[in-house]
Amino acid sequence: MPYPGEEYFTLDDFDLRGKTVLLRVDINSPLDPESGRILDDHRIKSHIDTIRDLGDTRLIIVAHQSRPGKNDYTSLEPHAERLSQLLRKEVEYVDGLFEKHALKKIREMRRGDILLLENARFFAEETYLKGESDWEKHENTHIVKKLSQEIDFFVHDAFAAAHRAQPTLVGFSSVVPCMAGRVMESELKNMGKAFTMDRSPKLAFLGGMKADDSIEVAEHMLSGGKIDKILTGGVTANIFLMASGHDLGEGNREFLEDELPGYEKIVEDAEELLEKWPDRIKLPKDVVLNEEGERNGIPLDALPSDHPIFDIGLDTIMEYRKEIEDASLVVLNGPAGAFEIDDFSIGTTEIFKAIAHSNAYSIIGGGHSTAVLENLDLEDEIDHISTGGGSCINFLAGKKLSGVKALNRSYREFKKESI
Ligand code: 3PG
Repeated sequence: MPYPGEEYFTLDDFDLRGKTVLLRVDINSPLDPESGRILDDHRIKSHIDTIRDLGDTRLIIVAHQSRPGKNDYTSLEPHAERLSQLLRKEVEYVDGLFEKHALKKIREMRRGDILLLENARFFAEETYLKGESDWEKHENTHIVKKLSQEIDFFVHDAFAAAHRAQPTLVGFSSVVPCMAGRVMESELKNMGKAFTMDRSPKLAFLGGMKADDSIEVAEHMLSGGKIDKILTGGVTANIFLMASGHDLGEGNREFLEDELPGYEKIVEDAEELLEKWPDRIKLPKDVVLNEEGERNGIPLDALPSDHPIFDIGLDTIMEYRKEIEDASLVVLNGPAGAFEIDDFSIGTTEIFKAIAHSNAYSIIGGGHSTAVLENLDLEDEIDHISTGGGSCINFLAGKKLSGVKALNRSYREFKKESI
């Protein structure tokens, strides 16, 4: 169990044959903004076992893609196509969630049919409610009220979104029995092992683009004693560098304005963290600029620059490697830089290699990590590759995930009905 005494149902606790099941997955994938083509299907593939195990049901799938305002915020039609190819079976897509035409499709389904509903975030209710404490508000959304009339069971397999309290993720817990799918079950079991490590130091590498999530989680990791030291990379490192008084230059500030509107507040939060834990948060010593496509490593005192920062520098890689070698647990979320471009992938590659070759219990999360590990042929060297980014680090920071709380709640509510 992830949290002692807090249990949840799995697919093995009910006879689901012939039932109508709503399955929440996380198939949020990198897309080509021009063509809408799916660039990495690891998350989609991860749910195949759960879908196969639900083969004898009328299976309705609900999911999201990206966030409003982003250029990969699209419909789930390409996802339905990819799922059909992977399953070698038709997954029908409907451009609706709970409107008349979507409900009609649901009612026409036969045993064995699979239907993928529209991107749940196209519907304002999905992202409007913040926080999970008010369960009734989630239950009272149209999404939950309408869909719950059509289903017998709800399966939560979206571990990667389990830190979000949104109606399609937490709203069904007292309405129908909710259970963990195969991805959720395996994530909770494998990640739970991190809590059994009693030797220090325990390290987290926080990189990637979602610096807002990283800064929030850093506070929990350090104050809760779950992690001893944090190494920073990617945009998260840039925020900490600004918080420590470095001027990164106009180009980097503009990038942050576009990607993380209101980033100044995140910098302030990072400042507080640095004040509290100056020795437990590691910042890059040097960075790599993208100078018209060329890699140029510079020390911090050569900043500001008009060129954007695209990677961590060689001195930083050496220092981080040493830290990783000595650790008992290493958790990584997000790349160290713009790893998609060969010249700027060195930091990410070297950090991944250091983790793979260390004796630490290793957990790697974040959207693109599986693809990077596959390219480097290092998948077998990592103890657990998580489908989650934010959810993975939140879990390891000791925060109870909203989605898991909803599963616990459903277990208490429907305990007598399981087989
Ligand atoms: C993810 O990619 O981390 C999950 O799908 C959650 O997405 P979000 O950060 O946009 O809520």
